[in-house]
Formats: sequence, C-alpha cells, structure tokens
Amino acid sequence: MVIVVKSGGVTSSVVALSAIFATSIAIVFVMVYFSNKAHEFRSFKSDSEAEFKIPIVELVTTAAHTRNSESRAVLSSEFSSKLKPTVTRRENINKLEQGLARARAAIRNAATMRNQSLFNKNDDILSSAIYRNPAAFYQSYKEMEKRFKVYVYQEGELPIVHDGPCKDIYTSEGRFIHEMDHGNNRFRTSNAGAAHVYFMPFSVTWMVRYLYRPNTYNLTPLKDFVSDYVKLISSKHPFWNRTQGADHFMLSCHDWAPHASHGNEFLYNTSIRVLCNANSSEGFNPQKDVSLPEIHLYGGKVNPKLISPPPSNAFRPYLAFFAGGIHGPIRPILLQHWKGKDSDLHVYEYLPKNQDYYDSMILSKFCLCPSGWEVASPRIVEAIYAECIPVILSDHYVLPFSDVLRWEAFSIQVNISEIPRLKEILMGVSEGKYMRLKKGLRAVRRHFVLNQPVKRFDMFHMILHSVWLRRLNLRVG
Ligand SMILES: *[C@@H]1O[C@H](CO)[C@@H](O)[C@H](O)[C@H]1NC(C)=O
Ligand SMILES: *[C@@H]1O[C@H](CO)[C@@H](O)[C@H](O)[C@H]1NC(C)=O
Ligand SMILES: *[C@@H]1O[C@H](CO)[C@@H](O)[C@H](O)[C@H]1NC(C)=O
Ligand SMILES: *[C@@H]1O[C@H](CO)[C@@H](O)[C@H](O)[C@H]1NC(C)=O
Ligand SMILES: *[C@@H]1O[C@H](CO)[C@@H](O)[C@H](O)[C@H]1NC(C)=O
Repeated sequence: MVIVVKSGGVTSSVVALSAIFATSIAIVFVMVYFSNKAHEFRSFKSDSEAEFKIPIVELVTTAAHTRNSESRAVLSSEFSSKLKPTVTRRENINKLEQGLARARAAIRNAATMRNQSLFNKNDDILSSAIYRNPAAFYQSYKEMEKRFKVYVYQEGELPIVHDGPCKDIYTSEGRFIHEMDHGNNRFRTSNAGAAHVYFMPFSVTWMVRYLYRPNTYNLTPLKDFVSDYVKLISSKHPFWNRTQGADHFMLSCHDWAPHASHGNEFLYNTSIRVLCNANSSEGFNPQKDVSLPEIHLYGGKVNPKLISPPPSNAFRPYLAFFAGGIHGPIRPILLQHWKGKDSDLHVYEYLPKNQDYYDSMILSKFCLCPSGWEVASPRIVEAIYAECIPVILSDHYVLPFSDVLRWEAFSIQVNISEIPRLKEILMGVSEGKYMRLKKGLRAVRRHFVLNQPVKRFDMFHMILHSVWLRRLNLRVG
C-alpha cells in the first residue's frame, strides 16, 4: 500500500509495510508550527503571516505500486507467522504515539502565544528575536527533554562504528557519535522497544579513512558498508522494517556522506540523514534530513581568541574578511571580484604571513562565508564565535537549525549574482541593524557550542531537537 499524505500543498509518499506489523506511518508536519514556510530558508521571510494553521492531514490510499506489492507479498508470506506484532509491541507503539500527540498539542498551543512572557520569566530564552517562534521552540525543547528516547544500535565494531573524528574539520561528526553512544545523557535508552528513534552510529569519515583507496574516486566500499549495516540491523531487530527506516537516523559531516547514504535507498529516501553537506539540489530534503553545522577544531579545541570575543563596542577596522582556497563553484567569483581589490574588503586566497586568521575575524565587522567543495563552511560557526556577522554566500544550502532559528536575525545572505555589489551591500547595513545582528550572534552562540559534558541548548541538544522535530512529524502505528 502506498500512502500519500497531503498537507498544505506538500505531498510525500511513504511506503508502508503494513502487512508485516499492521503498522503504517503518516506524516503530520509539526514544523509548520514554527513557520508556515519553514523550508523556504533562502527567502528569509518575515514572521508576520498567520503561521499556525493546524495542518489538514489527508490520507489517500492509491493503487499499490507493482514492485512494492510484489516485495510485500514475499515479505508477508515469509515473516507474518514468525514476526506478528506481540501485544506488548503494539502497546509500546501506542504509548509512544500518545506521548507524541500530547507533545504536538502542547507545541501547537504554545505556538499561538508566540510573544507572551512565559519564556521571559527565566533566562532560558535569551533573545526572542533569533527564533521563528520562541514559545513554540521553548515548548518543543521542553517536550523533548521530558519524553525523547533514542536507541543506539550496538551492532558494528571499532574503528568505523561507535567512534568518529573529534578534531579538525569533521569534529561535529565524532563529538555527536561519542555523546550519543557513550555519553551520560538522558535521551539514550537501552530499551529499544521504548525508543522514538534509532541511531546508526557509523562514521563516514572513518569509512573514508579505512575503506577508501586514495585517488580512485570509487565510493563503492562506503556504500557497501552502509548497505551491509542496514542489512545487519534490519535482520536482527524488527524496527527498521516497521517504518522502512523512517524513524532511523545517521549523522556525518564528511562531504561524501550523501553518496555513502546511497548504499541503502530507503536510508537515502526515507531515513533522517544528519549531514553537513546539506545541498538541496543533491537530494538533501529539509522535510526529513537535518543540516549539521561544520566546526573546525584544530586539535579538538576552540581557539582561545574565539572563546571570549572582544566587547561589543570594540572597534572593528575592517569591513569584511575572507581567506581561503579556490574550491567549488562560488569562491572563484568572490576572489575574481574582490581579491586584493579594495582596502576595506580583506579578501585573500592565502593569508599574508604576518596576519593571524582569528585576529582578522575579530577585527572585521562581516565575515564572508562562501561554500567550497561542499555547501557548509566552518567559517559560519567561527564567525558566530568571533561575533563577526556571517555573510552567507551559497546556493542550495539549507542552513543548520533553520526550522527554529531566524538566520536573518544574526547573518546576512547575499545572492551569488550580487557578489560584484558586495561592498555596496555591506556599506548599506545601518549601524542600528549591525548592532541588532551582533546581539543576535551573541544570543545564538550557545546553540553552536560543543560542551563536555553537554549543556542545555548547546549544539548536541540542537541536533537532537532537529531529529525530534522530524520524529514529531511522523506517526507510526
Ligand atoms: C511579537 O514580537 C515581535 C518582535 O519582538 C514584534 O515585531 C511583533 O509585532 C510582536 N507581535 C505581536 C502579535 O505582539
Ligand atoms: C526485514 O526485511 C528484510 C527484507 O527486506 C528481511 O531480510 C529481514 O529478515 C526482515 N527483518 C526482520 C526482523 O524480519
Ligand atoms: C528513492 O527515490 C527515488 C527517486 O524518487 C526513486 O526512484 C526510488 O525508487 C526510491 N527508492 C526506494 C527504495 O524507495
Ligand atoms: C550542490 O549541488 C549542485 C547540483 O549537484 C551542484 O551543482 C553544486 O556545485 C553543489 N554545491 C556545492 C557547493 O557543492
Ligand atoms: C539570485 O539572483 C538570480 C539572478 O538575478 C535570481 O534568478 C534568483 O532568483 C536569486 N535568488 C534568490 C534566492 O534571491
């Protein structure tokens, strides 16, 4: 059976193996409570529209796709007797779904009071300007803390599974895998039947290190690993088959992670993929996938210059700063127009020997963040730390946490075709707007910080909250 769910003009189709467990999945779109058009990130919408319409979820059963019905017939005859849902499993699912329904109702209710002072009574929410809907976010976050449970698969061995890089460019991958798999947080459960989502703790970066043969550009070994891993967990446990992976997630910061995830088409099409390379024109789907911030920590540590940026009234003599190699489609345009062309715009391919990278960020009002080979750039998070307004120069990049954060409250986005006018655009930002953006950066910083141990509202929790939102959008049962 193919279930087509229509909601506010969005149509998704989900293949449900209802014959096996009499379980189906539907999509309910809680993210619309944050913004009607939460995924038109490029347009930086104002929040004035009536956003919190309750979406109408309409289930349309269409004629079964031939191939799907064939495979289902095979599966149901093979497994129906062996793996009939036990009463307890059904009860578990019902209990989980009831909890989620309560969470959805509480979020929907909070969303209508977006500006009310409930979240000002304590300092949890520092600045409401940076959120699409501060009350909805705060409620959703609290519901997550109260309910959300993640099961981490134990299958797989070191070094590729249960570990990941914790320093240099792919830090965010290893730090999340470590915290989720070994950390002492309230979200992990060892009771797989009571989990809302299932985490596959493999590291694509370590696959590249241990399985990839340099210079071959052959990514088949990565895809094979992913394929085998899904085969393993889906044959040993009942959870994958129940939803075709829709309540499962993987996480990777490596540029090739989207390719590796092709190893299993259900993982690619249906599961939650948490990726730094969140390129919407290469299959990244913001409805179900999560954009992961890229953080470059040399030796695993934040540079001391970025730990405490200068006071907000400190003089910043440079208008804008960029230094970096010519990779990908956008940087050649930037460098062609601005490298060595203007004394206010410090644009370099190679930073001069006597100049320090982080000092330059701290001395600049705006930090240019063009995409390189992949859409994400660690400069965005560095700019947030340095309180240097990020200027996003990218195409098809779905910005991290943009279903809850208003990026326009702490960054500037410039269309690639406007690069020749960059100086004019940045000079045109009024002092008042600049100060508001800087205040926004100060407030948003904690969402991009990696802590050990983890702290409320930090990056680990924001990633998890993104997964929680996508799970809220699913109904299993
Ligand atoms: C809510 O707050 C925002 C910014 O703080 C303000 O622009 C808007 O007018 C407020 N809306 C209502 C309904 O009070
Ligand atoms: C899930 O489905 C696959 C075939 O797609 C099958 O090989 C596997 O045994 C099933 N897993 C369980 C636990 O039934
Ligand atoms: C995944 O999506 C692609 C493109 O929509 C489709 O051609 C393919 O059949 C899908 N695969 C599965 C297993 O759903
Ligand atoms: C994003 O994907 C498109 C389509 O494949 C590609 O042309 C573009 O170069 C990608 N962007 C980056 C920065 O890699
Ligand atoms: C960027 O500029 C191009 C050409 O002027 C235009 O077609 C496109 O819609 C613009 N994109 C955005 C997101 O504004």
